[in-house]
Amino acid sequence: MAKPVLWVTRQLTDPVMARARLDYQVIENRDDHVMTSEELIRASRDADAMLICHSEIYTKDVVAQLDPRLKMIANHSVGTDHCDLQALADAGICVTNTPDVLSDATAEIAMLLMLGAARRAYEGDHMVRTGIWHDWAPKMMNGFQITGKRLGIVGMGRVGQVVAERARGFDMEIHYHNRSRLPASVEKGAKFHSELESLLSEVDVVSLNCPASAENINLMNAKRFTQMKAGSILVNTARGALVDEDALLDALNSGHVRAAGLDCFKNEPGGNPSFSDIPQIFMLPHIGSATDDTRAAMGFRALDNLDAFFSGKEPRDKVN
Ligand code: DGY
Repeated sequence: MAKPVLWVTRQLTDPVMARARLDYQVIENRDDHVMTSEELIRASRDADAMLICHSEIYTKDVVAQLDPRLKMIANHSVGTDHCDLQALADAGICVTNTPDVLSDATAEIAMLLMLGAARRAYEGDHMVRTGIWHDWAPKMMNGFQITGKRLGIVGMGRVGQVVAERARGFDMEIHYHNRSRLPASVEKGAKFHSELESLLSEVDVVSLNCPASAENINLMNAKRFTQMKAGSILVNTARGALVDEDALLDALNSGHVRAAGLDCFKNEPGGNPSFSDIPQIFMLPHIGSATDDTRAAMGFRALDNLDAFFSGKEPRDKVN
C-alpha cells in the first residue's frame, strides 16, 4: 500500500524528520519559512495529512478553502489556538496536539522567567555585558526574593501542575485558579480560588498557564492588573493573547506590578517593541518547549497520532 502523503510545514528535529520519512511520503518546507494561508491551502491539495506548528494559522476562511483530500492535521504543539477547531471538525479534518511531553520544559522556563523578573536578570546581565558595572553597594540591584512567597497559577493543567511542583522546591505557597477544583491528591495543599480576582489579590507571583481560548483573550486587562497585589510579578509562558500589553505597560510604569517575565507576546515573532524600554521585563522568544529532548518528544507524539489515524484508530490526542 502506498504511504500516505504528509506535508511537514517546518523543519522538525532530525530524529523526527527521519521517522516521518520512513513511514510517510514527506513533502518538506526546505527553507523553513512560515507558510502563508495561500501556501497552506495549496499544500492541502497534495497531502493526506499535515504536520504543523503553532506558526501555521488555520482560520475559518483558510479551512473553507482546504482541499477535501486533507484528512488530518497533527500539531507539533500543545496549544491549538492557531486552528479553528470547529471549522476543521465541520470539514471532517481530525486535529491532534502534543500534551504532557512539554510540561517539564515549559515549567523550567516559567521558573527562569519568575527568577529573572524577580531578581532583575536582564538589568544585571546588561550591566556586566556592557561594562557599566563600576561599583558594588548594599542597595545595588536588590530584587524580590521568591522563596516562601505565594505563587498563583492560572490554569492548573499539566504545565501548571509541574510549575507548582518546581515552585514548591522554593518553599512557595501554591494558589491556583481553574475551571474546577482538583482532587486533593493533585492539589497537594494548594489553595483553590474559584474567582481569579481572589487569587490575584493574594499572591506575589502570577503564572499564566491556561489556554488562549476565546474567553481568555486579554484575561489580564487593566482591571485585573489593579487587582494584583501591589509589587507583584506576572509570568506568562502560555500565550500572548492572554495579556492586554498596553495595560501591562501601564501597570509596570506605575510600579503597581513590579516586574514581568514573558515568553509569549501578542505579536510573534517580534514581540512588543515598547517592552524593550522597560528593564523590569525579562523576555524570551517563545522557547518554553525548546529543548532537544522535548522537541523530539513533541515530534514523536505528533507522529504517533498520525500513525494511529492512518491505521484506523482514534488518535490519543484528538482535540476536535
Ligand atoms: C505549544 O506547544 O503550544 C508551544 O507554545 C510551542 O508551540
